[in-house]
Amino acid sequence: MSTTLIRNGLVISATDEVTADVLVDGERVVGLLAPDSGLAGSADRVIDASGKYVIPGGVDPHTHMEMPFGGTYASDTFETGTAAAAWGGTTTIVDFAIQTVGSSLREGLDAWHAKAEGRCAVDYAFHMILSDVHEQSMKEMDILVGEGVTSFKMFMAYPGVFYSDDGKILRAMQQGTANGALTMMHAENGIAIDLLVQQALAAGRTDPRVHGDVRHALLEAEATHRAIQLARVAGSPLYVVHVSAQEAVAELAAARDAGLPVFAETCPQYLFLSTDDLAKPDFEGAKYVCSTPLRPRENQAALWRALRTDDLSVVSTDHCPFCFKGQKEMGRDDFSKIPNGMPGVENRVDLLHQAVVDGHITRRRWVELASTAPARMFGLHPRKGTLAPGADADIVVYDPHAEQVISAETHHMNVDYSAYEGKRVTGRVHTVLSRGEVIVDDGRYFGRPGRGHYLRRSTCDYL
Ligand code: URP
Ligand code: ZN
Ligand code: ZN
Repeated sequence: MSTTLIRNGLVISATDEVTADVLVDGERVVGLLAPDSGLAGSADRVIDASGKYVIPGGVDPHTHMEMPFGGTYASDTFETGTAAAAWGGTTTIVDFAIQTVGSSLREGLDAWHAKAEGRCAVDYAFHMILSDVHEQSMKEMDILVGEGVTSFKMFMAYPGVFYSDDGKILRAMQQGTANGALTMMHAENGIAIDLLVQQALAAGRTDPRVHGDVRHALLEAEATHRAIQLARVAGSPLYVVHVSAQEAVAELAAARDAGLPVFAETCPQYLFLSTDDLAKPDFEGAKYVCSTPLRPRENQAALWRALRTDDLSVVSTDHCPFCFKGQKEMGRDDFSKIPNGMPGVENRVDLLHQAVVDGHITRRRWVELASTAPARMFGLHPRKGTLAPGADADIVVYDPHAEQVISAETHHMNVDYSAYEGKRVTGRVHTVLSRGEVIVDDGRYFGRPGRGHYLRRSTCDYL
């Protein structure tokens, strides 16, 4: 086993900031030591982190590599998407395996294992999208929880694709109550949205900006409220994904104030982008079509506040990239045919650091939102999300003073545009270790497909 000493950085966790040396032996962290502990001479490799932050590698608990959606496939494969994640300081992803209607959970999970195995540059795990609720799939759910797939996403949106009605949602939540799984919810009233889509198209409104109008904030809030009540009836915990509307945040805050086991995430696109982007001319707005949709800028203050108060506990990316050319273009004459999703797995850690620079969150909250909380939420802690002795040595040495301009010219995601093109941010990933191996260092990449391990997860640490 070779040893690495990361010297003299400011080691930041969700709770502490301390100048220390981090000692790694093989794939694991073995200790934090007072600076200049005298071990520098005996370590096989020394990384000087003076003037830099040392943080646990990012955990992105919401990605869709190669996802079949909207008549096409998300453009990042597990190979390209996990390499891009590594460049951006994310050393673990949790992707969504899909059960399609008429298929078993096992078939869906096997298909995702086949796509990911031997291709990932960083460690990975799976949630399961549950599209077909019946007694057999409920039995399978129990088996999967035992195998480390401990969270199941359901959709109140997308009728005819992933949609489940309230009875099916309640039934699956009951199963989650019994087997310890966490129910994840895409909370938008898809039936009402589909009516508004048809009415908009009939009125000749075909632009990408209409996507934001028909996916009304109140239909996100209504679905969020309904999901919370269904979870209460089932006695189950709930995790609401990609929250964007302030009215939905209010529902979550009320539930949490009442002491319910209700959790939620938002994503950088809702914190940094808005309907102004969706309204860009010449079909450029299609780059920003995702669901839930981008909201008017006024919503952002409520999202930032909720991130500070923990009514939102996690920032994921919902990375689901589609190229502008050939993919987003499928909806040139009809916004409802634009594949839903945006790229971002490479940008999350930097954008959240920019939030520190802008004064929205503290450095410790940055680490918590990007790494520790998602690891705890999805049963990966203490292996991931911390630099405590025994944890995997997934470590980012972060330069808080470097300046960069985000651009598709320089990013590593397999998509022909950046949602943040031209945005100046302060801070940059300098070095990334994944299980003790340096995979990014000072602008050079040393990762390789297949070095990432599949992770069996425990159940949620907050319950
Ligand atoms: O627009 C989105 N969010 N695409 C990915 C699928 C989902 O609903 O998360
Ligand atoms: Zn969703
Ligand atoms: Zn998603």
